[in-house]
Amino acid sequence: MTYSRIVGTGRYLPERIMTNADLEKIVDTTDEWIRTRTGVERRHVCADDQTTSDMCIEAAKVAIEDAGISVADIDMVITGTTTPDLIFPNISTLIQHKLGIPPCIAFSLEAACTGFIYALVTADKFIKAGEAKCVLVLGAECITKLVDWSDRNTCVLFGDGAGAAILKPSKEPGIIACHLGADGKHKDLLYYPVGASNNLAAAGTDGTAIHMAGSEVFKVAVKTLGDIASKSLENAGVGKDELDWLVPHQANIRIIQAMAKRIGVPMEKVIVTVQDHGNTSAASVPMALDVGIRDGRLKQGQLILMEAFGGGFTWGTVLMRL
Ligand code: COA
Repeated sequence: MTYSRIVGTGRYLPERIMTNADLEKIVDTTDEWIRTRTGVERRHVCADDQTTSDMCIEAAKVAIEDAGISVADIDMVITGTTTPDLIFPNISTLIQHKLGIPPCIAFSLEAACTGFIYALVTADKFIKAGEAKCVLVLGAECITKLVDWSDRNTCVLFGDGAGAAILKPSKEPGIIACHLGADGKHKDLLYYPVGASNNLAAAGTDGTAIHMAGSEVFKVAVKTLGDIASKSLENAGVGKDELDWLVPHQANIRIIQAMAKRIGVPMEKVIVTVQDHGNTSAASVPMALDVGIRDGRLKQGQLILMEAFGGGFTWGTVLMRL
């Protein structure tokens, strides 16, 4: 049987760091409120002229080097993002061209904060079907460009960044089990009110902002993430004690803690980056994975559960051996 396996990772964070103290100067908030309610201490914010594909290029270069491959080996690029450079062409074609990857399958998909998990699961299917041999999978976001910096309810939460992974076929697992899901009935709890076919002229104007019913999102996130994590382990016949690491979406430390408690995984086995990155939407899981690998906590052969939850709502898990 053919499995797919992550053979290299990378991340890129924009140079500019915005601390909670910086936010105290622009909205009615405090470092203490932000830290205790969200766990965020700082976030990276992309420059005005920096795009999501610019960040992806940097993350991809690191992942390509880490995997010991060349751009000529890549035969597919998938990017999970809600903040592409352009409505079209899709961002993966921009990345393919800018990196010098030969013509190949290249597309983006939009699943909000679950974008990387959706992209990784899609790449896994292509590899298992024998349709791809080396996939560049990205999760990236310039989400601060959608943030209303006068709205304290949302502006303290988000940050920018890009995470990348190289996925290749393997005789050994690799990705063991995946689960994806969505339910659009929750649309009004978390959305940005502009799209290519709707309200486009309002983009970037005052009053156009991320709408979020924070405490409702919180409750559904904890329940959904807890349920899908437990179910994923159960379906794969893996006990929670066998799990080496949980790499969750980094939305809020309280969501992460509540979800870990719900499934019975101690926080010592959870990779947490929300304090340094904020919620980077589709970039959060691949960047947390890269952080854990590079600081030596995540080791080859270990059993890892990644999971994410985002607007829609969408959700997903990937259980894998590194
Ligand atoms: N600084 C200070 N006070 C703030 C604030 C800020 N940045 N943002 C909100 N407040 C205030 C509110 O106005 C409210 O004041 P009030 O009681 O006078 O009305 C008070 O803090 C409590 O607000 P509440 O929304 O009940 O706080 P909370 O404990 O639910 O925390 C969130 C708010 C947003 C941090 C929390 O609900 C959350 O993390 N939700 C999930 C968000 C998320 O993860 N979204 C992405 C999912 S992928």
